[in-house]
Order: sequence, then structure tokens, then C-alpha cells
Amino acid sequence: NKRTKIKVLLSGEQIGQEVTVMGWVRTFRNNQFIALNDGSTNNNIQVVAELGLLGEADLKRITTGASLKVTGEVVASLGKGQAVEVKATAIEILGDSDAEKYPLQPKKHSLEFLREKAHLRFRTNTFGAVFRIRHSLAFAVHQFFNDRGFVYLHTPIITSSDAEGAGEMFRVTTLPLENPPTQEDGSIDFSEDFFGKSTNLTVSGQLEGELGAMAFSEIYTFGPTFRAENSNTTRHLAEFWMIEPEMAFHDIEDNMNLAEAFIQHLIRYAMEHNAEDLAFLDQRLAEEEKSKPQAERSELGLLEKLRFVVENKFERITYTDAINILLESPAYKKKKFKYEVSWGIDLQSEHERYLVEKHFKKPVIVTGYPAAIKAFYMRMNDDGKTVAAMDILAPGIGEIVGGSQREERLEILEKRMSDMHIPAEEMSWYLDTRRFGTVPHAGFGLGFERMVQFVTGMGNIRDVIPFARTPKNCEF
Ligand code: 4AD
Ligand code: MG
Repeated sequence: NKRTKIKVLLSGEQIGQEVTVMGWVRTFRNNQFIALNDGSTNNNIQVVAELGLLGEADLKRITTGASLKVTGEVVASLGKGQAVEVKATAIEILGDSDAEKYPLQPKKHSLEFLREKAHLRFRTNTFGAVFRIRHSLAFAVHQFFNDRGFVYLHTPIITSSDAEGAGEMFRVTTLPLENPPTQEDGSIDFSEDFFGKSTNLTVSGQLEGELGAMAFSEIYTFGPTFRAENSNTTRHLAEFWMIEPEMAFHDIEDNMNLAEAFIQHLIRYAMEHNAEDLAFLDQRLAEEEKSKPQAERSELGLLEKLRFVVENKFERITYTDAINILLESPAYKKKKFKYEVSWGIDLQSEHERYLVEKHFKKPVIVTGYPAAIKAFYMRMNDDGKTVAAMDILAPGIGEIVGGSQREERLEILEKRMSDMHIPAEEMSWYLDTRRFGTVPHAGFGLGFERMVQFVTGMGNIRDVIPFARTPKNCEF
């Protein structure tokens, strides 16, 4: 297979050579000019089919969406918009595409429309750019941790623990829905199940990750995570990917430094390796902004925003500072917030966005949250009421990272678990990390789709994951 990728062809190095290209037709003009795309870049190669090369019947079969194998000579292009084109000597139609039925027309479709056609949307410029960037970011995740000696630990997808203690889990069972076996008290008898106990899809690989950190010192996970929360927002998925590093001998300060460096590395990597796709999305976003009223337009373009985040330190404040800023804000005084503001509340997305978009205008790391609103494993601060938690809030996104220093002191952890009604007997394996050679340690979770949203500027999380899983949405 001597196929040349279109991205390589467009570099112009093959001028004068004979090549074979394969791809899908984007447009066909004047029975002569075919714009062909193979997904390696948003730029199409122009294939010139000289009159007479194709018969009447074949000409009709070259329609948007059809797939072709083209052989020809690479020549410098006289037309504007492309440096090279392929002068075809043979065109083979690999697969027809009925123009009447093919949903993607050579015009701009709305993102909503394309969400309905998710099985074909990779073939558009916007989604081509988004998913090539998603790929790059995934690669950069591994590069970042590999360069620092972290071990990539594969944590289970089916688990019997609820890492976040929030109860938002998808059940996994082989028991029949109707008439499941029951115990004497009428409750379902999971001992009859495949796993012999009640199991669910993981909400986080953290607890297993901590076991790894207690041996390898530094690990990270990167895999799918599931939350059965009924949120219909532009930031929530029922199935999303999360990156969770876990580091022994790290405190909350080290944790913040690593998270900041990590986010900056991902952005820098995309800027270096996906310049063309980012420029396309920057342009796309600029168009979108133009249709908004002046007051709602963002001050910086996508590329300017990314550059700014890479070049500037994140703001670091405590939860208590955050509450005070909100209470002093014009938004609060003018009663613009929907949710109340007082010490102890869980920051709502409107509060997070005020802090990053209106007040600081940069990413913000918030530490020292009230213990009452955070997970059981977070380390209690000396004040006895806040924990060593850290959330990173990003402009346009809100929470992008959630992390903490972990409670490494066995008695304090046990006390907290019992206060929160978390069954310590079932988590003995976890508590062993504190029984046998416990050390200070910390970690965090980065929501991969929220990161892809941040880098691509896409407003809806459904548009940055190939196959979105949201409430009532699972077509394939
Ligand atoms: O804040 P969360 O729930 O933290 C954890 O799961 C910890 N165990 C992480 C750790 O310390 N190892 O989730 C972490 C991040 C959030 O900041 C957010 O970016 C993302 O995961 N996230 C979601 N992304 C998309 N859809 C959802 N439903 C999400 N829930 C959380
Ligand atoms: Mg969180």
C-alpha cells in the first residue's frame, strides 16, 4: 500500500512524483475538481480529473461523502488556497454515497444538527480538528508523566467501592431484573451475582491509585469514569475520561505545582503540534463570538487565552477568601447569583465562573474547603473544620481539577469514615495503606473532556468526546 496521506502531500515535498491518495469527497466542481479529505488534516487535496478521464456514469458517482482511490502526479497548483494538487491519471470509486441521502452537505451545519449525526460528524472540519487535538492531548498526558517517572496504573472499571462516597454509581450485575434472589430480610442477595457482591462502574480510580502510590511512589491512571448523576449541563457526562496522578511524599503545595505544570504542558503540547487545527478553531470561535451581544463576548480569542494560561501563574486562594470575594462582589450586591453565598456552601458553577472570569481573569486554585462538603479521604487541616482540598477553576469551564492531600493518619481517617457512615470493614484493603508504612501523599483528578473543551474552545462537552453518554442518550 503506497498510499500517501494528504497532510504529507500538502507539505509539497512530492512535487513531480506519482502518488496514490485515498479519502472521502468533500466537494466536486465543474466535473473536474475534487476536494478530497482523509482526516489527516482539515485541508483537502485538490484532485484534478481532466475531461475524458471519467465516463458519464462515473462522473455522477463522485458525490460528497463518496470514497475514492486516486493515482496521479503531484503538481504545483495554480489555483489559490493550495500549494499542490494531484493531476489524476486513474480514479477508482471505492464506495458510493447517495447524494440524496447523505446527511452532510458541503455547507456549515450547526453543532446541534451534527450531534444528531454523531456517527458521521468526524468527517466535518470542526470535529476533525477537535478529535485530532483530543488525540494529541491524550498522548501529551502519557508523555508528561512518563518523563517524570510515574507508573501508568490500570485501575478497574468494575469495582465494589464508591470512591467519592457520593452514591452516583451505575450498578453492574448479572442478576435478573425480575425476581432477583433475595435474602431473608427481602434485600437482593448479591452472593448469587457473578462477582458475589454488589458492584458498580468506577466513579474514580483514586483509591486503587493510592495503593499503587504506596509502592511505586508516583502513579497515574487515565481511563473512563462513570457518574450516574442526572445533570444535563454543558460540563457533565455520564461517561468521561479522567487522569488521576497519585504521589507519595507530596503535600498539597507539591500537588498544586504538579497540576499547574501538567495543565500548562498539555496546552503547550497542543499549541506546538496542532497549530493548524487550533488556528481553525480560533477562527471558528471568533465567528461565533461576533454573533453574540458585545457584553457577552470574551475579551481574548482562543489562542490568546491559551498563550495567557501557559505564560502566567495560576491564582491561589483559600475557600474562605473565595467566599469573601463573592460576598463583596457587585454580582452579589445586585443579587445576580441564583444560589446563596455563605461560608460552608459548595461553590456553584456561577460562583466559580465569577471568580475566574470576572474577578481574577485567569485559572484559580482554591484550597481549604469545608470538610463537610468534601470526600472522606481528604486530610483534615489543623483548624479541624477545613480539609487540604484543591480545586482548579478554569475560565469558561469552572472546575477542571479536583484534588487533595490525603488523610494519612489512620485514627483520624477511621473517625471521619465512621462519622460519614462509610463501612470501614469493607475498605480494610484501603486502610492497610495507613496501617503499613503510611506516608503523606496527595493526588488529583483532571476531567479530560473539560480539558479538551478548554483547549478547543468548544462550549458543549458533548462535542469533545467521540460518543457522548448523557441522560437518555445512548444511540450506539
Ligand atoms: O472532583 P472529582 O469528583 O474528584 C475525584 O474524582 C477525585 N477522586 C480525583 C482525585 O483526587 N484523584 O472529579 C475530578 C474531575 C473534576 O474536576 C472534573 O474535571 C471531572 O473530573 N468530572 C467530570 N467531567 C465530566 N463529567 C462529569 N460528570 C464529571 N465529574 C467530574
Ligand atoms: Mg470535584
